[in-house]
Amino acid sequence: MDQDAPNSPETIEDGMLRGFWYPAALSAKVRQGRLRRATLLGTPLVVGRDSGGRAFALRDSCPHRGMPLSCGKLDGNLLECSYHGWRFDTSSGQCVEVPSRVESDKLKVERVFAVNFPCEDQDGYIWVYMPDPKRRSDAAPPAPRLPVFGSRYCITHLEASLPVHVDHGIIGLMDPAHGPFVHQAWWWRSRHSIQQKEKIFEPIPSGFRIRAHSPSANSAAYKLLGVYGKSVTTTIDFVLPNMRFEQIHCGEYWFSSRATVTPIDRQNCRLDFCAAWNVFRYVPFMVPVFRLFARTFIGQDQRTMKKQAEGLKYNPHLILIDDADRPAKWYFQLKQAHLDSELTGEPMKHPLPGPVTLHWRS
Ligand code: FES
Ligand SMILES: [Fe+2]
Repeated sequence: MDQDAPNSPETIEDGMLRGFWYPAALSAKVRQGRLRRATLLGTPLVVGRDSGGRAFALRDSCPHRGMPLSCGKLDGNLLECSYHGWRFDTSSGQCVEVPSRVESDKLKVERVFAVNFPCEDQDGYIWVYMPDPKRRSDAAPPAPRLPVFGSRYCITHLEASLPVHVDHGIIGLMDPAHGPFVHQAWWWRSRHSIQQKEKIFEPIPSGFRIRAHSPSANSAAYKLLGVYGKSVTTTIDFVLPNMRFEQIHCGEYWFSSRATVTPIDRQNCRLDFCAAWNVFRYVPFMVPVFRLFARTFIGQDQRTMKKQAEGLKYNPHLILIDDADRPAKWYFQLKQAHLDSELTGEPMKHPLPGPVTLHWRS
């Protein structure tokens, strides 16, 4: 049986982009000698570390009779299936042993492979490259990196599962108008703090940037950063398939974060938030305090999307308005432009012709 038959879940049009890296698990949770399950884009994976500590990712399905390989056991660089004991090299997926085989068998063991995915340990995540089955050669570029501006900094990771299609997770991430309603808190803002905003957006490769500006004057958390007395600027980028980068600079101090929304399957995605900073590095408990605030913030989005998922079950007609939903429109246009360029082999036609000023109230 061909396990990559055309109707396997990863080749169906499901709005999930192939040919990109996605974070599959937190690096710290993938320990040597242990196997961990993960799902990316509807594909079941088993991730682990070999005896040298190198991360690997295989499709969680034995090429023999489909037993999840995560039910098996790891022996150095070999993963043994729990059903009939076939053994696979974790770095290549190649089968190295079929215990039931006798000398006269014609089976060429070395021609049997468990599906193996490029895998990198980066910024505290195990990244897995999900290839595009439509591309002829699909060499993986390096995995994404969180920009940092020095060697000494604090770093932390938070995650939240969201019971919606990845598109809703992403447009929620870049939606400027929900803040005063969803993220009400004394330290952030209230609905009474709504004011008119104006920001310049410009095209960048595979995405768009909110040009460096001074952060929202109506948010208390940003005001805090001004304690160093220098001017504070923030830049926000969105890059396909799913990344929002934010950088805040104030003299030699900086804060850099990345939020990714990763498709798990058609109805679920996961937000992975990773932040690094050198500001307040010597203030005790800075990391737990930051995590507390960030978790509150992310929890507000998570609760909102859980409720939204109830409404989306009925497949309602949706409206995207100008200018508040323009970033969401660009996201869909970027996605389409990317798919078109994959199909035609032509360079991607960017939906933003140049800098655009958007206005909204939030
Ligand atoms: S199903 Fe894995 S060895 Fe048979
Ligand atoms: Fe939000």
